[in-house]
Amino acid sequence: MAQLWGGRFTKETDQLVYNFNASIGFDQRFYKQDIEGSIAHVTMLGRQGIITEDESAQIVACLKEIRSEVEAGTLTISSEYEDIHSFVEATLIDRLGDVGKKLHTGRSRNDQVALDMRLYTRSEVLETSQLLKELLETIVKIMEEHTNTIMPGFTHLQKAQPITLAHHMGAYFEMFKRDRLRLHDIYERMNYCPLGSGALAGTTYPLDRELTAELLGFYGPTLNSMDGVSDRDYLIEFLSACATIMMHLSRFSEEVIIWNSNEYRFVEIDDAYSTGSSIMPQKKNPDIAELVRGKTGRVYGALTSLLTTMKGIPLAYNKDMQEDKELSFDAMDTVKGCIALFNGMLATMKFNKEQMYASANGGFTNATDAADYLVGHGVPFRDAHSIIGRLVLYCIEQDKAIDELTLDELRAISPVFEDDIYDAISMETCVNKRLTIGAPGPAAMEQVIAAAKAYLNEN
Ligand code: ARG
Repeated sequence: MAQLWGGRFTKETDQLVYNFNASIGFDQRFYKQDIEGSIAHVTMLGRQGIITEDESAQIVACLKEIRSEVEAGTLTISSEYEDIHSFVEATLIDRLGDVGKKLHTGRSRNDQVALDMRLYTRSEVLETSQLLKELLETIVKIMEEHTNTIMPGFTHLQKAQPITLAHHMGAYFEMFKRDRLRLHDIYERMNYCPLGSGALAGTTYPLDRELTAELLGFYGPTLNSMDGVSDRDYLIEFLSACATIMMHLSRFSEEVIIWNSNEYRFVEIDDAYSTGSSIMPQKKNPDIAELVRGKTGRVYGALTSLLTTMKGIPLAYNKDMQEDKELSFDAMDTVKGCIALFNGMLATMKFNKEQMYASANGGFTNATDAADYLVGHGVPFRDAHSIIGRLVLYCIEQDKAIDELTLDELRAISPVFEDDIYDAISMETCVNKRLTIGAPGPAAMEQVIAAAKAYLNEN
């Protein structure tokens, strides 16, 4: 296959070299962005009189034709070409002859690929943000339904204090909301157009970079042509945001797996989101959650890989940068798939309220509140802590919860206890008294839920 750049060469490229160098196998995924960029470029060339308006119109029409044929499957992107840019240009020349040869005037594949990758990433940022929004909507719905669903809150995976399911879900709402805000920031920073940077030093043609930027929906052109062709910061930022999303999804998955275990039984994953075992008929496995947790590693891998690729590259474009694509594409697909599947699993999951309540009730999660009760009756906190410690020990020996002890048993440990202790340490009181904003008390949660819904309405 003759290369676009073959003029200076006297020998054919060795086949293995050709294969090693080619990127068509993976960059064909942004054929749309490549054509969109070329349409903007050639429209601008026509308006500036760099080519005639008629030539520009012919090229635009032919590019659109190529795009619809690829979309319809009547034109196959052939791996005979080195990359998607060569494929589109060669097809154009094939159809338009000499006019087609004018497309690449005032442009290099370096600014072309920088543009394509940016356009592709920009739409991934938006799609990922939309998927996160859908996940946040599911979470908020669960929060609204479960402001009074009591469950144990954990530290060190040991039962700590009673909380509500709404409160637990609310923690994930905050995480995924921050993830969305990060995507928004990335969009704002990345939305500048590198087209017109040329190979590295701009061009001698009177390009209108403002116009191409505007045609492609950018805020404006990038301001240094060397940076324009060699900047992949936006991609690193996006992969970093993706890695954080996966970290959040993975933590959530880990909890779902624990909650779904035979020992906990806090939730039941819907049949549609579980799988069975080939040998053990009783099994219903949380594979989706496990796969989401498992796929986190490859997204981290993409981030580490790109950071490593970029760290030794002198300005401006170097072929190393072709390595920005495969792992990034894999990470982008992975993150979108994981958010969507996790959302489906969460939306169909059943919460076993009774089991959650019993677990909170049986685990001394009201011990702090029992100590606070003594403090309320004049006992210094450090002494109260130690009294309740002895009380818990006694309960463990008797195999009873604190509120299952008789008043006599309680008084034997501290005479300060009165009849009202039972009410003071009920699960409901423990939760309802946590009133400050951010705490699990239903009154505080209602305010947080209202804020969450307002955020989703406005963003
Ligand atoms: N396939 C290349 C890439 O992904 C396109 C740019 C080629 N530029 C060049 N000077 N060889 O980076």
